[in-house]
Amino acid sequence: MFWLLAILAYLLGSLSFAILLSRLSGGPDPRACGSGNPGTTNMLRIAGKRLAALTLLGDLCKGLLPVLIAQHAGLGVQQQAWIGLAAVLGHLYPLYFHFHGGKGVATAAGLLLGVYPPAALPAVAAWLLIFALTRTSSLAALAAIPLCLPLLAWKQPEALLPTLLLYGVIVWRHRGNLHDLFAGRERHF
Ligand code: G3P
Repeated sequence: MFWLLAILAYLLGSLSFAILLSRLSGGPDPRACGSGNPGTTNMLRIAGKRLAALTLLGDLCKGLLPVLIAQHAGLGVQQQAWIGLAAVLGHLYPLYFHFHGGKGVATAAGLLLGVYPPAALPAVAAWLLIFALTRTSSLAALAAIPLCLPLLAWKQPEALLPTLLLYGVIVWRHRGNLHDLFAGRERHF
């Protein structure tokens, strides 16, 4: 059951809502415009609020649904988190788009909301606050996600290892943003 759900989560995660929605709406390809990232932030830049909100919802559900299904199937918290991570890996390295995907923040939020919502909420609140203050999506994500860790370590320690790996791959996927942040040329809204 675990491996079946992990594979299905990867296949679901591979659906890039940014690319699909831009194709359906006849808009520009997010991989060729703005930051080149097929994700919510870049959709907000190039396609507007409505398509960005739909991208956020779709990408978030890709992380949330597999975790909820794993819960329903009676799998433990750690297995739920590994299955959510498989969905995030699908988003980062999508089977249907030559393994060139996004940066995983919205899908990670879905994973965390499914595994243990009280730990996800401080990270979501911090993302909103840091974004409001800096208008910089990458900085908000990189600074906010670790805020889920203390509560997770205390209340759901089995989920800690997959969550640390999750953060590791998200940082890796933001290495270009980190470079730009340190060079003072990261994109702001
Ligand atoms: O969630 C993606 C965000 O953290 C960075 O996106 O397009 O500014 O590279 P972008």
